[in-house]
Amino acid sequence: MERAQELVIIRRAYAKQILAAAQVDDSHLEEAFAQVPREDFLGPGPWVIPRWGSGYLPTPSADPVYLYIDNVVQIIAERNLNNGQPSGHAKWIASAAIKPGEHVVHVGTGMGYYTAIMSHLAGPSGKVTGIELDAGLAARAKENLSSYSNVRMVEGDGTTVPFDAADVIYVNAGVTRPADQWLDGLREGGRLILPLTTNEGFMANDLAKVQARGAVFRITRRGSEFLAHWISPVAIIPCEGARDEMSEAALAEAFKKRGAWLLITRLYRRDDIAQDRCWLRAPGWCLAYE
Ligand SMILES: C[S@@+](CC[C@H](N)C(=O)[O-])C[C@H]1O[C@@H](n2cnc3c(N)ncnc32)[C@H](O)[C@@H]1O
Repeated sequence: MERAQELVIIRRAYAKQILAAAQVDDSHLEEAFAQVPREDFLGPGPWVIPRWGSGYLPTPSADPVYLYIDNVVQIIAERNLNNGQPSGHAKWIASAAIKPGEHVVHVGTGMGYYTAIMSHLAGPSGKVTGIELDAGLAARAKENLSSYSNVRMVEGDGTTVPFDAADVIYVNAGVTRPADQWLDGLREGGRLILPLTTNEGFMANDLAKVQARGAVFRITRRGSEFLAHWISPVAIIPCEGARDEMSEAALAEAFKKRGAWLLITRLYRRDDIAQDRCWLRAPGWCLAYE
């Protein structure tokens, strides 16, 4: 069998394993993971991957088969910056329920692997706007995504770069509060996938610690209201420009109410919601139980 054909089979098996690990049943998403070559987005191998008990180690060779596992791959060692874990992204992308024809805004594209996955889901009638702050990564993502005709890459700060009204805003760096531009930029029915993280650090490898430090929420626009729903714990590097002290303090306090995040149903952009209705209350916004 030719190598290219072998990789098609390997990617198909990987896609199935990733969706199973994410506990997601979504044939379109499985197809996207099966179609997009991860090696096209991570530069030439060998690649550096964390190994249980040994830290980050280079893969034995530049064979792309080593990339088809449910693990992060190092992008920039000094910044602890990785290509994220596939099953985590599968869960968050599935929760965004991207439909053909929709406009997806991806904040923090890195080198563009998950941008490409979402480009598949949006399809030729949809579009993806990728925004990356790091100039070097933005340039590499632009090059890596050049054959994806529905993707436009922008170098800049995803909290301020203007974009067309979005059906989905997929944020890939930890914030303490949603940027106004994201909430304002959602179309009716639009979904914001939002990782809220404290300053406690993002390197914890035990689940109890991760759970108390960060969580991904889906925020859905319904008219002038915003529904909010907890999706999963998260450990992820900070988002520049979307972290403020007051919200961070409120978030750190809120995460002490273990498990209560499951009861959140609303995001309000107001100061007058009673404290006992809120999981988190910070100036100008809150996450509430009703
Ligand atoms: C955890 S990395 C994820 C990269 C990519 N999604 C992946 O999994 O390969 C977060 C990325 O967000 C970028 N970033 C941080 N703050 C940002 C901002 N305000 N606007 C756009 N990108 C930002 C970082 O430079 C980094 O590339």
